[in-house]
Amino acid sequence: MRVLVVGAAGMLGREVTAASHARGHEVVALAHGALDVTDPPAVEDAILRYRPEAVVNCAAFTDVDGAEDDERGAMRVNDEGAALLAAAAGAIGAKVLYPSSDYVFDGAARRPYLESAIPAPLSAYGRSKQAGETSVAVSNSRHFIVRSSWLFGLGGKNFVETMLRLGREQPEVLVVSDQAGCPTYTRHLGAALALLVEGEEYGIHHIAGGGGCSWYEFAQEIFDQAGVECRVMAASTEMLARKAPRPAYSVLGSSRPDPVSLPHWQKGLAEYLAARELAEAPA
Ligand SMILES: NC(=O)c1ccc[n+]([C@@H]2O[C@H](COP(=O)([O-])OP(=O)(O)OC[C@H]3O[C@@H](n4cnc5c(N)ncnc54)[C@H](OP(=O)(O)O)[C@@H]3O)[C@@H](O)[C@H]2O)c1
Repeated sequence: MRVLVVGAAGMLGREVTAASHARGHEVVALAHGALDVTDPPAVEDAILRYRPEAVVNCAAFTDVDGAEDDERGAMRVNDEGAALLAAAAGAIGAKVLYPSSDYVFDGAARRPYLESAIPAPLSAYGRSKQAGETSVAVSNSRHFIVRSSWLFGLGGKNFVETMLRLGREQPEVLVVSDQAGCPTYTRHLGAALALLVEGEEYGIHHIAGGGGCSWYEFAQEIFDQAGVECRVMAASTEMLARKAPRPAYSVLGSSRPDPVSLPHWQKGLAEYLAARELAEAPA
């Protein structure tokens, strides 16, 4: 099948591209420089030139704290750009996949959020992703909206990289222990998305790493697995104030009859640490 991956140089985009190649798809991968999703003629041109059967939109404004000062900018990419792409794909009968986020939820739940849960985002980023979900759904009936969470992988800023850097620089780190979610390895998610677009299971999907933990537990596991001596000290969200509010609890579950399940996040972490070592090894 012919798959167009947009935002292809991002952390998830590169894995969807690799997984789509591995599944034997004909893949066109466009990074931000090659296609800006907020540029209507460019979006139209790309769709008409490549005539994909499925479009995976990994382009996004992902600076969660930055979005608090630039909600308009986040909306332009995560909502308006996503709608343009979804509509252009729909006009030629192509499916569209829009990755979304656990940050569409307010975190008040105490059991995993199912696809039917009502979004109530706390942050500008979350609002832009919720708006994008709705716009994509109305712009193209053949849509997959895949909510995931706490991504880590090659080629992007992520919590694992931040912890490994801090662990080299200081003997201890303070990490939030009162927010729980599902860390997700982008290679696992990318493979799941490449498979999902082949089918017809439209609508919302929750797909995240198996299990769940707090950022504090995640940090401890990172140092354990990487063999880094750094003490993790638990902090409250209040102590480590960030610009954007985050949900206290955003573990994702699925009520789909045949849900896509990913390997446990600890396995994802082990695979990621091995992959980054390989990527850093001299040729
Ligand atoms: N990261 C997470 O923890 C997380 C969690 C849940 C869901 N998600 C969702 O997963 C998806 C992928 O996220 P990610 O972590 O892979 O993000 P990422 O690494 O920041 O990648 C996003 C990519 O989009 C590109 N981009 C930004 N604006 C664009 C535009 N106007 N047109 C075209 N491309 C544009 C960026 O290019 P530049 O860098 O050149 O701007 C970047 O390559 C997003 O939809 C995100 O909301 C992420």
